[in-house]
Amino acid sequence: MTSIQDHCCGADVFFDKKTAKKQYRQYLKKGPSRVTAKIIRQLTNNTIEGKSLIDVGGGIGALQWWFLQQGGSQSTAIDASSGYLQQAEEHAIKNAWGEKTNFVLGDYTVVHTQVDRPDYITLDKVVCCYPDYKQIIEVSCKKAKTHIALSYPIDGIISKIVSWFGALLIKFKSNSFRPYVHPVNKIREVFHEQGYERVSHTLAFPWHIETYRRMKG
Ligand SMILES: C[S@@+](CC[C@H](N)C(=O)[O-])C[C@H]1O[C@@H](n2cnc3c(N)ncnc32)[C@H](O)[C@@H]1O
Repeated sequence: MTSIQDHCCGADVFFDKKTAKKQYRQYLKKGPSRVTAKIIRQLTNNTIEGKSLIDVGGGIGALQWWFLQQGGSQSTAIDASSGYLQQAEEHAIKNAWGEKTNFVLGDYTVVHTQVDRPDYITLDKVVCCYPDYKQIIEVSCKKAKTHIALSYPIDGIISKIVSWFGALLIKFKSNSFRPYVHPVNKIREVFHEQGYERVSHTLAFPWHIETYRRMKG
């Protein structure tokens, strides 16, 4: 397994400023991506007004901008990519959201301690970037007050082959970042063990999109 430090340095190089700029232009033209739009749809029935969010690995920040537009009080981006964070921060300043936003660079499982517990946590295409799915989900379950919404890849042989080829291409570029296909049932088990129930599930091939709510008691 890649060390967390190598993983984070690799993510910073892989998700660079050039990629961030390209995705940002796409966002301005077309809005949130297909998968992000489905996460937004799942969260739409919940109260957002006055609530807070940590968007883990939020990239250019599409989920955060939606959250603030719905009346969210505070949003924090935690990302291993300095290029993405810089792009997101520029957008926040342009939209006069400086006071309501916070940007933290680093490995979420380490730097989350710098941020208060939010109502919501989102992990859109992030668990697949992380070598240890159990750790990233457990940290999120302990940290969120009410809801966690995430997207992660379907498992099975085809996903594994695609991921393996992706990892090989990245390795050829001498980058330590790797994509991971984690076992779907095990991911769901962690949420259950941590006292969360699944309230929404959609498939947007090849992604599972799910929202979990903390159970009372
Ligand atoms: C595939 S991109 C997804 C970006 C965005 N959520 C989206 O759906 O467009 C994965 C993101 O997770 C970030 N990331 C990967 N590992 C991370 C970690 N350990 N801590 C924080 N962010 C991480 C990457 O830097 C990148 O921004």
